[in-house]
Amino acid sequence: MKTFVTLPQIDKIAKKIKKQVSQIPEVGIILGSGLGHLADSVQESQVIDATYLPGWPQSTIQGHAGKLVFGILENKQVMVLQGRVHYYEGYSMDRVTLPVRVMQRLGVKTLIVTNAAGAINPKYAPGDLMLITDHISMIAMAGLNPLRGPNLDELGPRFPDMSQPYSRELGVLAREISKEFKLGMKEGVYVCLAGPSFESPADLRFLRGIGADAVGMSTVPEVITARHGGTRVVGISGISNKANLDGNTVTTHEEVLEAGNLIVPKLEKLICELLKRS
Ligand code: HPA
Repeated sequence: MKTFVTLPQIDKIAKKIKKQVSQIPEVGIILGSGLGHLADSVQESQVIDATYLPGWPQSTIQGHAGKLVFGILENKQVMVLQGRVHYYEGYSMDRVTLPVRVMQRLGVKTLIVTNAAGAINPKYAPGDLMLITDHISMIAMAGLNPLRGPNLDELGPRFPDMSQPYSRELGVLAREISKEFKLGMKEGVYVCLAGPSFESPADLRFLRGIGADAVGMSTVPEVITARHGGTRVVGISGISNKANLDGNTVTTHEEVLEAGNLIVPKLEKLICELLKRS
């Protein structure tokens, strides 16, 4: 049987971090593909390179720096992950979600999770922000649930509720902020696939049929882990490309990274205002 990440392993990393940084974070922020620049706004920052932490999953792809940035954003103590890892990189699900576990052991109560996603909803376009109101966990439905294996009873129950994966209260705030600052934020359902290949046109028509508005290869494992441990979540997709339902255009990783430049200023406004008001 596979050995799973244990609580002592998680706590060992948390202890190492506590020795390095003076600030104890209350909010965790995970930055998706091409969105890493957001971490530059953190004040009094203390940075830990992911390679310094034993067992921390190392990013293998462009657009994910692999840094943990601790500091202050809008008067809140934050811990920002500049870059995440994905299942397709070869890590097991419990390893992919280990950063969320460490956040929980450090005392993080709220997780702001972002990603780059392809628009399935035809009304959504590259550069749009989309508040994630719910998700379809294709990856967990297929057996790759991050909670598979021995339950970490100290953190949460064996069969955790998932009726409200995304905080309604923070969703209301995000809508207010979008209106006030004319961010034009959309909202909808995010579907998580394993990747790394992008979807075929028939995949996309299927995903549209089951109610997905945007598609990506991340976020949902982290959200399931966060909710298991009682962390409240706000999820935001930055739409990087239109999903190719008719097979007439090509989706590339470069396109995904480029759209980040359009998305970052809006996302930064939204995140800073959320921190201010929550
Ligand atoms: N499909 C899957 N993942 C993605 C996409 C996409 O079109 N864009 C960004 N991440």
